[in-house]
Amino acid sequence: MADGLCDIGLIGLGVMGRNLALNMAEHGFPVAVYNRTRDRTEEFVQNEVQGLDIHPAYTLEEFVRLLRRPRSIVLMVTAGAPVDAVIQEIAPLLGEGDLLVDGGNSRYTDTDRRVGSLSARGLLYLGMGISGGELGARFGPSMMPGGPKEGFERIRPILEAASAKVDQDPCVAYMGKGSAGHYVKMVHNGIEYGIEQLIAESYDLMRQGLGLDNDALHRIFEEWNQEELSSYLIEITGRIFLQNDPKTGKRLIDVILDVAGQKGTGIWTSQEAMELRVPTPTIDTAVSMRCVSGLKDERRLAAKVLKGPSPAIRQDPGTFVPKVRNGLYAAMIVTYAQGMALLHRASTARRYDLDLESVARIWRGGCIIRAALLEDIRIAFQKKAGLQNLLMDPGLGRGIMDRQADWREVVGAAAGAGIPVPGLAVSLFYFDAYRRERLPANLIQAQRDFFGAHTYERVDEKGSFHTEWE
Ligand code: 6PG
Repeated sequence: MADGLCDIGLIGLGVMGRNLALNMAEHGFPVAVYNRTRDRTEEFVQNEVQGLDIHPAYTLEEFVRLLRRPRSIVLMVTAGAPVDAVIQEIAPLLGEGDLLVDGGNSRYTDTDRRVGSLSARGLLYLGMGISGGELGARFGPSMMPGGPKEGFERIRPILEAASAKVDQDPCVAYMGKGSAGHYVKMVHNGIEYGIEQLIAESYDLMRQGLGLDNDALHRIFEEWNQEELSSYLIEITGRIFLQNDPKTGKRLIDVILDVAGQKGTGIWTSQEAMELRVPTPTIDTAVSMRCVSGLKDERRLAAKVLKGPSPAIRQDPGTFVPKVRNGLYAAMIVTYAQGMALLHRASTARRYDLDLESVARIWRGGCIIRAALLEDIRIAFQKKAGLQNLLMDPGLGRGIMDRQADWREVVGAAAGAGIPVPGLAVSLFYFDAYRRERLPANLIQAQRDFFGAHTYERVDEKGSFHTEWE
């Protein structure tokens, strides 16, 4: 039928794949689609395609025939072994210069391996992080492609058309060589974990601490979303508080079990940060707190045995809530600063040569961590491309310093009431540690030298020293 006429092919018709196919076709690009199970393709074509230039294929041979040469194929399959399985099946059907794009949340080391092995076979391979969930894929995600530049240039018009826009500016840009795209997406998710944790802690402070109800919380988050905290995660949080549960008639939020899932990208970010010795304590804490949430049975027992203060904050909500907002905003800056510092280090350590202004630019729209703050972050990198830490940007640094008194009070009040706010606290202590010229690490050095002759450096002389401690 449409042999050789489709601009792009898409494998994997899960909800992300389907929505992306519809999005690209709606922008005028004929799309060939294939799914491992025939039923899903048939169901998609029957129910969703309606007059769009989308062409189903029921075998990979047929799928490949539909594509214009050199071919471009986006894989929207579950990260891990399924990606290798699809590659193994399709690669023998492709020819020199054909392009495969992995649009899943693949681990960057897997992407590096695939880029290498496929380039040896004359194929181009892009690892492309896609953020924005189902609606993003349908109406405009943020996309982070990395790998061979010519591969990106080939599908650039399609990606730009399908991506989210901020003031006409597409939220997609070439990130760099190899696995740069998936790496940037991994860090995006690490930041996502951090911010979700900070918002959850703020909710806890207001719900448990101040005793506010869901309607009040809805109003607060709606208001916050009009101000400097304006972001997708704040917006959806406000909406969550209004959702009813048809089964019980209660607010849904109150019947959701307090155990957070995780697919692994946050853990990878922390592992990678430790590997590169970049401190990302807010992200690490967010991962740990999801693990603590998973200890539901242990927590149930411990709640009966381990006693502490009652989680009440006896303050007027009218004065305390704005303090929580200020603490949350400062901690959010710190979270982005940690993620960006990791990208800064990876840019050289992993040889990506990242343009951090570009990263901030394409995160302003479409993705889960989109936020008004990202425009300030973009400007910070525009002013100083080599900025090592966002805290040193005069505007962002001032943003934190102006709010620190409230932030400290919130963390103090939480500690007094026994409300766990490790994300807000560790972000504050990261700020305090980063701005300290002298830390107590001299004592750690002394201890290491004492028990293991690991040596230490001195403040007044270059070299490495060891003492026979008494
Ligand atoms: C996105 C999200 C998405 C991720 C989910 C779930 O940018 O659209 O990051 O890619 O899969 O947020 O992640 P967890 O299950 O690990 O929380």
